[in-house]
Amino acid sequence: MDSSMKRRDFLKSATLAGAAAFVGNSVPGLSEVQARANSVVRPVVIASANGLKATARAMELIQQGVDALDAVIAGVNIVEDDPKDNSVGFGGLPNEDGVVELDSSVMHGPSGRGGAVASLRNIKNPSKVAKVVMERSDHVLLVGEGALRFAVSHGFKEENLLTEESREIWLKWKETLSNQDDRLPPHDINSIDIGEGPKKYERITGTINCDGVDLKGNISGVTTTSGLAFKIPGRVGDSPILGAGLYVDNEVGAAGSTGRGEANLLACSSVMIVEYMRQGKTPEESCLLACTRIAQQTKERRLLDDKGRPNFNVNFYAINKSGVYGSAAIWSGPKFAVNTGEKESRLENCTYLYKREKK
Ligand code: GLY
Repeated sequence: MDSSMKRRDFLKSATLAGAAAFVGNSVPGLSEVQARANSVVRPVVIASANGLKATARAMELIQQGVDALDAVIAGVNIVEDDPKDNSVGFGGLPNEDGVVELDSSVMHGPSGRGGAVASLRNIKNPSKVAKVVMERSDHVLLVGEGALRFAVSHGFKEENLLTEESREIWLKWKETLSNQDDRLPPHDINSIDIGEGPKKYERITGTINCDGVDLKGNISGVTTTSGLAFKIPGRVGDSPILGAGLYVDNEVGAAGSTGRGEANLLACSSVMIVEYMRQGKTPEESCLLACTRIAQQTKERRLLDDKGRPNFNVNFYAINKSGVYGSAAIWSGPKFAVNTGEKESRLENCTYLYKREKK
């Protein structure tokens, strides 16, 4: 770990001070539930950096009394509908065959229910379909053709999600492809060195995670993505997997992720972050612990830099029941969007495990 420690300590104390202000007048001797009922709920919405508009919209709805889940879904719908965001919904970068496949999950704190879809084609708002899976089926996750048929049966409109811009980016990737792709040669799984990973073309793993606490103190979250650009068809990342790309416990808080989904699928970080918060750690400390876990778990040389650190990034975002929020990434640089009741949202820096050296 590096000099980010000092900054983290500062952030930690700032966040704890914020927590004290948010919690309000809990009375010693009352049960936890009564204390919560007496506490001042301060709503908050947090998201990845592409969620400035999403968090502002979600907060606007929360202040009108809307449930946190409906609010955060309405927020991320703005990003799903935006053809200029190449990492989510309409205009998302396609798989290696040039077909857009979307993943999303939602989790509703008060009911403890969740829903998700993966490898969903032709429907631009997978987050809305995930909510229908939660509400109108006895299942939690639907994938591929079945997810599409379920969505169509509920009135979702099929459309071509590939914009001209995304198609051109995909074609350029195809045309510059050499022998570097996601397919690995036969090898001994105990070998930590099977050569270089793909480096030639930057691969986008953009996503939006958005979590909110509403006026009643209820917590919900959503994660939605087009996944890894130019993925092998059928590849599913962490976003639609409850416990990995999103997790909510209404008594504790919510957490979600963006970045390299494969690393997070192996760590199931979101549920772990919520459990760290249950133990009393701040959202930021909990997110940073998840980054540390991924760094410790990553052993293959193709995924490490020359100092043995992961050569990819994963970002986490978390809020707790008291409205305290925090975020951390493996590598410095990312920001997150947050709204604590203002008309406009703001970007803040994620804390980090490793500082990216300037080239
Ligand atoms: N974290 C998004 C993905 O890997 O698909």
